This record gives sequence, structure tokens and C-alpha cells, in this order.
Amino acid sequence: MDAVRNPYTPGTGRKPSALVGRDEVLETWRVALERAERGKTDQPLVLYGLRGVGKTVLLTQLRHDAEKRDWWVVQVEAGADVGLRDLLGEGLYEPLSEIARQGLGRRALRALKTALSFKASYDAGGTWTFGVDLSGASGGGADSGVLRTDLKRIVKDVSLGAREEGVGLAILVDEAQDLSSDELTTLSMVAQAAAQDDWPVLFAVAGLPSLPQTLSEAKSYTERFHYSHIERLSHTDARAAFARPAQEEGAGWSDQALDYVVAESGRYPYFIQQFGQSSWDAAEGPVIEIADARVGVARGQNHLDSGFFRARWDRTTASEKRYLRAMCPGGDTGIGTGEVASRLGKNLNALGPTRAGLIHKGLAYAPDHGIIAFTVPGMESFIGRQPE
Ligand SMILES: Nc1ncnc2c1ncn2[C@@H]1O[C@H](COP(=O)(O)OP(=O)(O)OP(=O)(O)O)[C@@H](O)[C@H]1O
Ligand SMILES: [Mg+2]
Repeated sequence: MDAVRNPYTPGTGRKPSALVGRDEVLETWRVALERAERGKTDQPLVLYGLRGVGKTVLLTQLRHDAEKRDWWVVQVEAGADVGLRDLLGEGLYEPLSEIARQGLGRRALRALKTALSFKASYDAGGTWTFGVDLSGASGGGADSGVLRTDLKRIVKDVSLGAREEGVGLAILVDEAQDLSSDELTTLSMVAQAAAQDDWPVLFAVAGLPSLPQTLSEAKSYTERFHYSHIERLSHTDARAAFARPAQEEGAGWSDQALDYVVAESGRYPYFIQQFGQSSWDAAEGPVIEIADARVGVARGQNHLDSGFFRARWDRTTASEKRYLRAMCPGGDTGIGTGEVASRLGKNLNALGPTRAGLIHKGLAYAPDHGIIAFTVPGMESFIGRQPE
């Protein structure tokens, strides 16, 4: 069928034409936004799940929902080599400079002035100008160099500035497993302070399945978080994720084809988008038949192997690859690290750095003490397809 009209969207963070199966999280967020507007602050939202299940897309939807209500929003992605301070500082610039263009109240000016001091705390050379005169404004002081002090100050002043405009501040952090435990502790302390004093700020963080564990180890108030496990879709939702985009383009799937792609995708959103796209391209249409779906899945699998999987596989060292191989079978659901060591004929402790490297690269996580699992669904069969 016409490739131009292909409605499927395989790719990291790409907005799907139909975002299905996430109503509960969206509803929790809507309620939190409305409550915050009425002066009640809710717990930070923690979205965790495997690679490609749709955490980023969902986080971005939360951002849009907040923006639709004119909230001040910062969305950042943690990374191995940037600190939370710089991330949030830089993330704040765009929404704040947008806000500075509107006529502002006293509190909002204070927020801008505090943001300038926060910027100075990590970037001595760089200065911001918002194009407004802040000489008479109160604020500042977010440059003590102590992260929790400075973060508290900036979050307080900016969220109270937002309240003055009748809205709140939303802070969204993706790939949060890459934050240090100190940064996670700081985030939860700030969220706790916000809840105590009812600053209108909402946090949502997303990350790999290790995130809840990491948060609970980061000595903090994490029992007060709202955890949502983002999983592969239910059968009904997976069918809808295939069917709805086609329908909207005046096309469709035969029942048999739909059953087949739902099963082959394992109901993982990334694979759904990939198989949907390749099947569409293989079909004459307007109905995608089972023969098209078979071609689509085969081609889609090739695409995944050379992109989704390959990108991660290629980032590993030779010893990490050996470790990943030794995790098969069993690594998709989790396998004992002792068992992996014995398969490799090595001492458990000697493998510690390799294991840590894989976790650091976001390829594996520890679902439980002494257990290791792939963060990438379908990794086991991909590895099976790789020549030694
Ligand atoms: N609820 C959904 N319904 C249909 N498709 C979805 C849904 N969520 C995500 N997708 C699709 O799945 C793919 C992966 O989404 P996304 O990048 O958000 O996953 P992720 O969990 O952030 O992955 P990673 O851990 O690699 O960052 C994208 O192609 C997106 O269009
Ligand atoms: Mg993501």
C-alpha cells in the first residue's frame, strides 16, 4: 500500500498514531494536574519497564497534557555523563524564556531571577537573558553548590511563579536509572518538601525495570512514590494498536493476519509498530492479508535485527558479548548470576565488572538479588541469530 500513508511508527520515542493501553497512567496524571491546580500536590509518578514498551512516548504524552493546561514543563533525559543540576538548569531555559515573553507577576519574576542563580551554579561562563529587567526582583540564591538546597530553591520559586499564573510546574525525567543515587535521593527529597508545603509541582520519572529498586536503595521517601509498571499490551490493546492506525487510513487487517502479527510481536509496542509498518508496505491492500503479514514480519524482523537489537549489541565489548550469550537460555525472564558464571566456567566475582558494564549500558538489570535479565525484549532469540 501507499508508503506515504503508512501510519505505523517504529522508532525510539516516536509518537504512535494510536497510543493504546495507557489510560490508567493518563488518568492518574490528569487527576494530579487538576489537584495541583487546586493546591493539592500528589506523589511523583514512576514509570518503569523494558526497552521499547513505550515509556518515553507516555512521558511525552504527560508533557503534552500538562502543556495543554498551560503548565510550565521541563522534560529531560538523564545520561551517563550529565548531572541532574545541568540537565534541569538547561531544561528550564526554554519554558522560562517563553514565560518571560508574557506579562509577568512578582512571583514569576522571582522565578526567573532564581533561575539565573541556578544557571550560575553550574556554568560560570554562561549567562542567560530573558529580555526582562530583573534588577528590582527578589529571588536568586540557588547557587550554594549543594544540590538539594539549590534544587529546592529553584523548584519552589519556579512552581510558585507558576501558581501565580494559575498553573503548576511539571518536571519529567526520562532514563532516570542513569541518575546517581545521590541525585535520586535529592529528587525525592525535593518532591517530599513540595508535598509538605503544597508547591504546585509534579514529577514523573521513567526508566528501566531496575528503577524502583534503585529508588528504594537511594535512602529516601520512595514509599511515597506512585509506581506504574509499563508492560507489553494486553491482547485487546495489541489488536487495537495494529487495527486502529490502518482503519484511520481506510485500510484494514484480515482476522487471520491480525492474530498472526499480534502473536509474532509478543505484544511489545516497538515490535507492533515495526511489523505493522512492514506488513503495510508488503500489502496490495486495502486489506492486509495473512500472506502480507508473513512477509511483513520477516522483513520487520530483519529491520529490528539490524537496528533495534544491533545498535545495542554493537555497543558491547567481546567479554560482554560472551556474558550475554551465557545468559541464554533464561535471560529474557531472568537467570542466576551463579548459573551464568558456571556456564562461562568462571568465578562469580571475577565477572562482576562485566555484569556492571552491561547494567551501566542499560542492556541488563537485576530483577532480584543474584539474578540478571535482559532489558531488551526478545534479546535471547536475537542472540541466537548472531554467528559466534
Ligand atoms: N501505547 C502504545 N501503543 C502503540 N505503540 C506504542 C505505544 N507506546 C509506544 N509505542 C511505540 O513503541 C515504540 C517504542 O516507544 P518508546 O521509545 O516510548 O519506548 P521506551 O519504553 O521509551 O523504550 P526505551 O527503553 O528503549 O527508551 C515506538 O515506536 C512507539 O511508537
Ligand atoms: Mg525511552
